[in-house]
Amino acid sequence: MKTLITEMFGIQHPIIQGGMHYVGFAELAAAVSNAGGLGIITGLTQRTPEALAAEIARCRTMTDKPFGVNLTFLPTVSSPDYPGYIKAIIDGGVKAVETAGNNPQKWLPALHEAGVKVIHKCTSVRHALKAEAIGCDAVSVDGFECGGHPGEDDIPNFILLPRAAESLKIPFVASGGMADGRSLVAALALGAEGINMGTRFIATQEAPVHDKVKQAIVDASELDTRLVMRPLRNTERVLRNAAVDRLLEKERTLGANIKFEDIIDEVAGVYPRIMQNGDMEAGAWSCGMVAGLIHDVPTVKELIDRIMAQAEGIIYRRLVGLGHS
Ligand SMILES: Cc1cc2nc3c(=O)[nH]c(=O)nc-3n(C[C@H](O)[C@H](O)[C@H](O)COP(=O)(O)O)c2cc1C
Repeated sequence: MKTLITEMFGIQHPIIQGGMHYVGFAELAAAVSNAGGLGIITGLTQRTPEALAAEIARCRTMTDKPFGVNLTFLPTVSSPDYPGYIKAIIDGGVKAVETAGNNPQKWLPALHEAGVKVIHKCTSVRHALKAEAIGCDAVSVDGFECGGHPGEDDIPNFILLPRAAESLKIPFVASGGMADGRSLVAALALGAEGINMGTRFIATQEAPVHDKVKQAIVDASELDTRLVMRPLRNTERVLRNAAVDRLLEKERTLGANIKFEDIIDEVAGVYPRIMQNGDMEAGAWSCGMVAGLIHDVPTVKELIDRIMAQAEGIIYRRLVGLGHS
C-alpha cells in the first residue's frame, strides 16, 4: 500500500511503531522495519547519547531497512543532553525522528540539514497546526484512547482525525487505539496516511519485555486503563494495578495540593522493573484502551501481514462491494 507516509519514510506499509520507554529497543525497531513498517528506537531509554549511538549501530546489524528514533522532550527542569542525542541520531545516519512532548522547533534545522524527516506526535489540532507551521514533515495525531500521554483535551480519534484532516496540509498518521486492519482502513477513511501503534506492538514475540507484560495486555479489556496525574496536567493512560489504585487514592485525598513528590513511588523509575523484571505491581505503566482488542502475541511480521491482509480485504471486498448495491 502506497501513501504519503510510505513515500516519505521509504517503507512498504503505512505502519509506524511509536517510541515506548523501555520497550523501543533495537530488537523491536528492527522487527517492525524488517516487516515493512517503520520501527522506532526510544531515544531517552538510552541513558546517554553514546548509548543511543550504540543502540542505533546494533539496530543496523539487525536490519537494512529504514528505522527511526523517538525523542521525547520532557517538561523537566534538568534536561537530558538533547544536543548529544540529536548528534547521535544524525551521525548514526538515521533518517526518521519521532518527536513528542514539547515543541521540537529548536532541533529542526539540524535534523533537516542532515536529511532527517521529522514526525511530531501531538494530541490536539492546535498542536498539530503548530508542528506544521514550524516545519515538521508530518504529525502523529494521538487520540484520547492512546496509551501514554493523551494530553488534557480528551478528544477521541473519531473526532480528532477528521478535524486534523480538515486543518492540516502535511500528512498525518492516526495514533491511539490502532490494532488491526479495521483500524487502518478507518484511519485512512478519516484522512490519515497510516497508523502509529504502541500497545499492540508490546504484545509481540519480538518486543524485548517480560512475558508478564505481554500477558497483562492480552488479559486486559478496554475497561482496564486509568488516567493518572491529571491534577498535575501530565495525564497518562496506564493499566490499572495496585500501584495505580494507590496513586488515584492519593489524588483523591490530596486534591489540588498534590505534588509530583507525593506520587514518586508509583511513577519514578518503575519502567525497568516492570518491563524487564516483570514486577507488575511496581508502578504505573502506559497502556492504551486498545488492550481490549489484543488477544494474542504474534510475531511482528505475522501482525503486520495480518493487518495489511485484513485492510485490503475490507477495502476490496467489503467496501467496494457496498458501492455496487
Ligand atoms: C509502554 C508505553 C511507553 C510509551 N513511551 C513513550 C515515550 O517514551 N515517548 C513517546 O513519545 N510516546 C510513548 N508512548 C506512546 C506511544 O508511542 C504511542 O503514541 C501510543 O502508545 C499510541 O497509543 P496505543 O497504545 O493505543 O497504540 C508509550 C506508550 C506505551 C504503551
